Amino acid sequence: MEPAELDSPQLQALLADMVDTLHDYGGIGLAAPQIGEPLRLAIIEIDGGPTRYGELAPLPLTVFINPVIEVLDPATAGYWEGCLSVPGLRGFVERPQSVRIQYTNLIGAEEAMELKGFPATVFQHEFDHLDGKLFVDRIQDTRLLAFEQEFERYHL
Ligand code: NI
Repeated sequence: MEPAELDSPQLQALLADMVDTLHDYGGIGLAAPQIGEPLRLAIIEIDGGPTRYGELAPLPLTVFINPVIEVLDPATAGYWEGCLSVPGLRGFVERPQSVRIQYTNLIGAEEAMELKGFPATVFQHEFDHLDGKLFVDRIQDTRLLAFEQEFERYHL
């Protein structure tokens, strides 16, 4: 995306649409291509608090434009992921757990943050959408892909 697009009414409308969709779905993140907009743009919002993945630090709703991921440590850990783009499925995906991301914020400034553990997985999942990649593309062993109903019965 170009800087001139940042304060356009079109972008504001798209973001409002993305936030509504994210909240309706009850997810952590959403990328523009998931609602049919081929832009390198994603939103992430983490409520924080205790989860089955440990204590999560909250992240207020944040817009990431043209994000780039740098892996700081290739050691991986796996989590059961789900996604609005493939409803009803859960898959166990291993990803690096220490990453640095760089992105442009809504006012056009460059920002960076480092993420460890589950949040590192969340960001990689969301930013994969910008390259048309889904979590199911990252599953090596299809025994680690399940419908939600089976997942709840056998994996929780
Ligand atoms: Ni997704």
